[in-house]
Amino acid sequence: MIKKAVYEDDSIRCVTGETLRPGGFFLTERAISLCNLEKKGLKALDIGCGIGATVNYLQTEFGIEALGIDPSEKLIKLGKDKYDLSLTMGKGEFLPYGESYFDLVFTECSLSLMDNHRKTIGEVYRVLKPGGYFIISDVFAKRPEYIEELKKTKIKSCLRNLFDLDILSAEINDAGFKTLVLEDWSSLLKKLMVEIIFKYGSMKEFWNITTCRNCDEFREKLGLCKPGYFLMIGQKGV
Ligand SMILES: C[S@@+](CC[C@H](N)C(=O)[O-])C[C@H]1O[C@@H](n2cnc3c(N)ncnc32)[C@H](O)[C@@H]1O
Repeated sequence: MIKKAVYEDDSIRCVTGETLRPGGFFLTERAISLCNLEKKGLKALDIGCGIGATVNYLQTEFGIEALGIDPSEKLIKLGKDKYDLSLTMGKGEFLPYGESYFDLVFTECSLSLMDNHRKTIGEVYRVLKPGGYFIISDVFAKRPEYIEELKKTKIKSCLRNLFDLDILSAEINDAGFKTLVLEDWSSLLKKLMVEIIFKYGSMKEFWNITTCRNCDEFREKLGLCKPGYFLMIGQKGV
């Protein structure tokens, strides 16, 4: 039986805290250190911002003017109650912003959840300034030949939509971005899984509580794909 989206369940925030992804702010900070950001008055957008933790982090730690967008009414409300931020309900596929507006756009563990991630990549290109950075951290399959089987399962978790990194890189480049960084951070996904097992006893128990009963088929297909986690930074041409 399928329940709700894993990322909307309070059980995941018990483990990850205010962020809903492997590594917390570690990759956010790393990405910023890898971009050439000497200008003042930078503007950033976080697509799939969840409760807005990164939006808050960019503003308070780096003085970056940041906005967040996310389709989850529940997460946007939690964020508005917790922080004083500009968080909007909406989808990455239809961004309500003008052309060449942002210096940085983030999708942190959210591109994999979008119905049409290619449309979002096009939208990111449109709203970024020339020379702006597209920062993606997300899940991928080390054995992409099993991805199609995994997609047939019904579960609302980014782990159902692991990327094939060769295909995603080609899509990013075809959209007009130059790939500056592509790093394997699977250790962060492993660490998160260990933390979940410590809290709930097993991954099976965690899936039972959060999203589905009897998701043995999903777990088996996920295991075949060998999930990992990556950081990618694309730059829009000047
Ligand atoms: C795993 S959570 C990550 C949230 C946040 N980036 C973080 O790391 O704390 C995935 C997020 O993607 C959002 N999402 C799902 N579909 C989306 C879409 N089409 N456009 C934008 N965000 C989407 C979900 O609502 C959810 O908040």
